[in-house]
Amino acid sequence: MEQNKKYEPEIDFKSLIKKPKRLFGWVFVYFFLIILIVGIYYVNNLNTINVNTLPAKAPVKDEVKRTLEVKSGSIMPAVDISTITDPTDELINKGKDLYKKNCASCHGESGLGDGVAGMALNPPARNLTKLDGWKNGVDFTGLYKTLEEGIPQTGMVAYEFLPPADRIAMIQYIRTFADYPTVTDEQVQELEMTYKLSEGRATSDQITVEMAFTQLVNEKSHSKRIANLIAYVNNHPSIQGVDVFNKTAVNKYRVFSSFIEVDFSKLSLEDFIQVVNVNFLEMGFSAEVNLLKGTEWQNLYNYLKNVIGTARA
Ligand code: HEC
Repeated sequence: MEQNKKYEPEIDFKSLIKKPKRLFGWVFVYFFLIILIVGIYYVNNLNTINVNTLPAKAPVKDEVKRTLEVKSGSIMPAVDISTITDPTDELINKGKDLYKKNCASCHGESGLGDGVAGMALNPPARNLTKLDGWKNGVDFTGLYKTLEEGIPQTGMVAYEFLPPADRIAMIQYIRTFADYPTVTDEQVQELEMTYKLSEGRATSDQITVEMAFTQLVNEKSHSKRIANLIAYVNNHPSIQGVDVFNKTAVNKYRVFSSFIEVDFSKLSLEDFIQVVNVNFLEMGFSAEVNLLKGTEWQNLYNYLKNVIGTARA
């Protein structure tokens, strides 16, 4: 009898198809448990989950790109401080040009803070015709401070790279946008004390980012030339003078990089000996180089002249 009994399938698919709701009978319990466990885990680890693992974002100041002009270092001309209290029309016109070039993209042509680039910023560019709520104040000293230092963490960067006279011209132009407070003698003195305007100042050389990259690339190709040179001497172990070179050149890379730009037709043997004797360490030679005799010097000199000349050709 028992053998005849049919096995009932564990899941009766036929009845499931008829009553699909049964499929979900216990599933809810599992879901509930999973969500509960995840929830408990989350609450227990709230602190670690919320901790920002990325480093803080750099202030906007760094995001605003400014293209630097190529300038050779110069002494910034001293400022005639009477331009602070009595601006000429000429100065104001110059300020207008400078403002259009440097500031209008954010602050708008007429200072309303409606420049395309300025409206998108947070905080937006200041409306220079409305004289309240300013961070550095609307006095001449406040404006100068803003241009010298910028407003940290905002799109307002420092313009300390512009000559002080240009900054004063721009401020004078901005001051025509609204009824700015008159400049007092105390303020002029304060500016003079803080920024030494009438003394001028020195600035260093400046090149554009593109130029800096080109230089880096050149240095790279320089190091490639040296690598080629080293390969060349390794493949030609019997060039005359190689003995004295191998004996004294402890750092071949340095030796070659010291001489790769040298025009040997302009470097006499005597000068060569003197330069190497004094700078042997920096140039990649061992101290033994100081003990070389006359013909050995000649051989070393000829060797470098020969090898570097060949590499150039
Ligand atoms: C990239 C956009 C941008 C450019 C370009 C720019 N500014 Fe601004 N400027 C701002 C923003 C943004 C603020 C508002 C900062 C704040 O509210 O803290 C501001 C604020 C100012 C203020 C008010 C400072 C204060 O005390 O609150 C002055 C003045 C000012 N800018 C002058 C200038 C001058 C002059 C130039 C040109 C040499 C210039 N800005 C160029 C974005 C810019």
